[in-house]
Amino acid sequence: MSPSMEERIVEKKELLYSRETIAERVKDLADRISCDLEGRDVVLVGVLKGAFIFLADLVRNLKIPHTVDFVRLASYGSGSVSSGTITFAKDIETDIRGKDVVIVEDIIDTGTSIAFLQEHLKERCPASLRICALIDKTERREKAVTADYVGFAVREGFIVGYGLDFDEKFRCLPEIYVIKEGKR
Ligand code: IMP
Ligand code: MG
Repeated sequence: MSPSMEERIVEKKELLYSRETIAERVKDLADRISCDLEGRDVVLVGVLKGAFIFLADLVRNLKIPHTVDFVRLASYGSGSVSSGTITFAKDIETDIRGKDVVIVEDIIDTGTSIAFLQEHLKERCPASLRICALIDKTERREKAVTADYVGFAVREGFIVGYGLDFDEKFRCLPEIYVIKEGKR
């Protein structure tokens, strides 16, 4: 019997970052955010679904008071690349006027999602708006967005694990992997 598609993909993924490496980077990001935003009214906005694990670890390393909210974006177009049309499937419930907001995103690819979010959250007059991305993937960037805090910079490849999915799979993996193309 031939192996299922999922089994073949599992065999083709290659470890990029171990649990220990991720934990160190997340702590480092949390330390920097704690330092930069000490004494401020901080709201972290997690982008569902991909950022839920990263955000959970990030907030447990923060040393400053803060609140957490979530957005979920809907993008229309092909599965693996965001199209230009994005809407809020779920908006935040917090009034961010005058607050220091940090968007927490799993990965920036073309930059379309984060550019949309930046534009729409800016309209609500936060005191500041920063971006914290677990992964900054540069090869397919279309929008000029720069993250203030980056866990890992990678050039290319499809990344899974630690919240990141491929067709809703692999989110639960504690490590970060790249899916390799090619035959077994
Ligand atoms: P962008 O709008 O093209 O920057 O895409 C951002 C979104 O696409 C991310 O929040 C992810 O949900 C998804 N995405 C882009 N690249 C990857 C990847 O390599 N692995 C998993 N999800 C990805
Ligand atoms: Mg995703």
